[in-house]
Amino acid sequence: MSDTIVTHPLVVGEVGPGCKKVDPIVVADNVTRTFGGLTAVDVAHVEIPRGAITALIGPNGAGKTTFFNLLTGFDKPNTGDWSFEGHSLARVPAFRVARKGMVRTFQLTKSLGRLSVLQNMLLGATKQPGENMFTALVKPLWRKREEEITAKAEELLARFSLDAKSDDYAASLSGGQRKLLEMARALMSDPVLVMLDEPMAGVNPALTQSLLGHIKQLKEEGMSVLFVEHDMHMVRHISDWVIVMAEGKVVAEGPPDTVMRDQAVIDAYLGAHHDTDLGEMTGANPVVEAKEAAAKVAAKKEGTV
Ligand SMILES: Nc1ncnc2c1ncn2[C@@H]1O[C@H](COP(=O)(O)OP(=O)(O)OP(=O)(O)O)[C@@H](O)[C@H]1O
Ligand SMILES: [Mg+2]
Repeated sequence: MSDTIVTHPLVVGEVGPGCKKVDPIVVADNVTRTFGGLTAVDVAHVEIPRGAITALIGPNGAGKTTFFNLLTGFDKPNTGDWSFEGHSLARVPAFRVARKGMVRTFQLTKSLGRLSVLQNMLLGATKQPGENMFTALVKPLWRKREEEITAKAEELLARFSLDAKSDDYAASLSGGQRKLLEMARALMSDPVLVMLDEPMAGVNPALTQSLLGHIKQLKEEGMSVLFVEHDMHMVRHISDWVIVMAEGKVVAEGPPDTVMRDQAVIDAYLGAHHDTDLGEMTGANPVVEAKEAAAKVAAKKEGTV
């Protein structure tokens, strides 16, 4: 971390990998997940701040999606514990995690193509009395709730400009619209923490701006957001806090402007020998600039310039 910035209003004590937050919504300890001989996640300690937009960045294969899967109950860790709003969530199945107010979207969208857009939304709702065998038999008990859920779905579809598509098959949506649908569906359960895995991937520029606005709005409505993203422009633009993963570990964290100048971050991207999306991390990105500067120095040394 930069020598000049060691404290931050979101943090207790010094800023650095694994630092304590003033008001964490998620606290994770010793979370590991291996696949055969590969350690995909090895997070010693991390805290996600409440009421903020936190970006989780790192090169391809860093373990970001696996970490999301673990936190949200879609995968089981080898070791570790984590809490959400002070309650342990380790080994709690995904549907219960969502009911507790922690919802996520997927890197590859999971909308059900052969259901309508509206039906996809209804599946995102929790506390549906019709799901219970006994209350399902008593129509008045669930009819009112069903009407409420449908009204909420329609309202959200309008907010995400998908209302005209309500009766269309989800399969007919563009990639970007599917991302919007996933986000809208996530909001059906009134989440406290919304986790978005690459919300911008595959989204055309016309929709990018509206997605950015939607994410900011989640925070304005009091939700906490944790999102994975490769586009550094977007990370800089909307995040309050950035956590960097490399080879399964948290290697840096801090506010966007300082974290992207951090040597550990530059090393994480440059050391990753993947041809990552660095090209998309537009001009004003210190990681790219550092990469270019390093290449120039190397070229000079070799006498090719
Ligand atoms: N189900 C699985 N079986 C085996 N290996 C896996 C599995 N899921 C993930 N991995 C491996 O774990 C590592 C971390 O993968 P993960 O998808 O979490 O990375 P990521 O940071 O999300 O990358 P990207 O930016 O490309 O989405 C990679 O080496 C990946 O190949
Ligand atoms: Mg991923």
